[in-house]
Amino acid sequence: MNPVKRKRLIQKALRARRGSYAPYSKFMVGAALMVSGGKVVFTGANIENASYGLTICAERTALAAAVAAGHRRFEAIAVAAPGAGAVFPCGACLQVLAEFCGPDFDVILVPASRPALARDFKLRDLLPRAFSL
Ligand code: THU
Repeated sequence: MNPVKRKRLIQKALRARRGSYAPYSKFMVGAALMVSGGKVVFTGANIENASYGLTICAERTALAAAVAAGHRRFEAIAVAAPGAGAVFPCGACLQVLAEFCGPDFDVILVPASRPALARDFKLRDLLPRAFSL
């Protein structure tokens, strides 16, 4: 992916963490999802609930906003999470991403304390065998 677009997406994921509602885990996650073509980006953050299992991850809030706005094709997502090393998206988020994103979709994992150490993966690396009907 073009380095300028990549850097912008990383910045947006880091900023999106401000929208996180994580009073239980204190683990603030932000996501920035780029629509195909690269001109539009939707952001999301994790939203927790007192009934813990109802928590929504950052990746899925970003995807839900984009899909509800009418988008169906995506190029990349950056996910910013606490710490100095990569935090990998949960399996549920990967499966939901796979509904709309192909194996070449870019997933950029951004450690919030060391954004320069962001690592790049393809969706196929993280979910080689997505469920499909
Ligand atoms: N979380 C995400 O936002 N994305 C993931 O891929 C995994 C986990 C959130 C959910 C919860 O609010 C917090 O991280 C701790 O599990």
